[in-house]
Amino acid sequence: MTTSPPSPLTTLQNKRVLLGLSGGIAAYKAAELCRLLVGAGAQVQVVMTKGAQEFITPLTMQALSGQPVHTELLDPTAEAAMGHIQLARWADLILVAPASANFMARLAHGEASDLLTTVCLARRCPLALAPAMNQAMWSNATTVSNLGVLEAAGILMFGPAAGAQACGDVGPGRLLEAAELLQLCAAQFTTGSLAGKRVVITAGPTREAIDPVRYLSNHSSGKMGYALAEAAIEAGAEVTLISGPTDLPAPDRCKLVPVISALDMLAACQAHPSDIFVAVAAVADYRIAQPALGKIKKTAEELSLSLVRNPDILATIAASKPRPFCVGFAAETDQLAEYAKAKLRSKGLDLIFANDATSTFGNDAASVTAYWPGGEKVFESQSKAQLARRLIALISQRSTATHA
Ligand code: C5P
Repeated sequence: MTTSPPSPLTTLQNKRVLLGLSGGIAAYKAAELCRLLVGAGAQVQVVMTKGAQEFITPLTMQALSGQPVHTELLDPTAEAAMGHIQLARWADLILVAPASANFMARLAHGEASDLLTTVCLARRCPLALAPAMNQAMWSNATTVSNLGVLEAAGILMFGPAAGAQACGDVGPGRLLEAAELLQLCAAQFTTGSLAGKRVVITAGPTREAIDPVRYLSNHSSGKMGYALAEAAIEAGAEVTLISGPTDLPAPDRCKLVPVISALDMLAACQAHPSDIFVAVAAVADYRIAQPALGKIKKTAEELSLSLVRNPDILATIAASKPRPFCVGFAAETDQLAEYAKAKLRSKGLDLIFANDATSTFGNDAASVTAYWPGGEKVFESQSKAQLARRLIALISQRSTATHA
């Protein structure tokens, strides 16, 4: 079998693909597919049904994916390492290739009778099937009806192709070639939606000096802002990340502007014009009126610090002319919707994401609700990386709609 090499532009960098194999002679082609997915930068976890293991060994798939292969639903050892729910949450895309007639039937009926059907049922990401079966099985009325159910549930169908089959028949039911499946996987992501746009993102905390050795700050880890920067880069934007102090490595292919205080951050934002401005930073609301020039000695029993309000960076950028498309975040402990909508208006924003302040700081997962003039959208709890891609997709959509 020969497959044409994927285009050099095909990238699945940072993408997590769960590759499912069900039973069928075409399972041998999944080895090449796995190799191409890994080559395009994807992290790949493989789940195999019992039938698939009759055609190709888990060892082959393990060697190609670089990860242990998952085969059992009720295996305490495997569940302890990465359980079915975790696997489902981990994935950015699930591709079942080959998807047999039996697998399609089980999925269409909502079965959770083995690991692969269970992971598909518990998924939070797009699911694609690459069917492969004898042409008579593909055309059978039951398979056609199952296909209708699966498509109505939003499941994507990659193929099948028509041609000569392993059984000697000719017709529809051939698995698409590995290179075609790779292209279809890459096309599921927002790559390119922000091509040519300058995106400035503020992230992390700010530090407000008390004296040369002490400061006021907050618990922001910067994770959400850095994840958004990654997602905007993936979407083709020219990204400037203006970041307060964090422990995170700077994403590749972005301009990192490190800052310390809110005033530094404001100056950096004003020095970097943008088409889209996303303020994720947890900017200190107040700074010390007059930081001490030398270290404050602990001689007095009490110490009072006089604080003054910091400028609102986001509101300042939103009021500038010409102004970029402005996106804010609102971390609240109560009345999320009311406060977020009020900030959308008072800061003059195009879009705001509201999250629960008690569960956001430092966590790897988050859930948010987006509000814009005349609309809202809920994003359920998911990894910050996955969430960031979805928020960037909405930002790209809304900024196009606003400027149309
Ligand atoms: O008013 P509040 O601090 O809740 O607003 C949060 C939003 O405003 C965030 O997007 C944050 O990055 C931004 N902000 C800012 N400058 C400030 C305070 C908040 O850019 N001084």
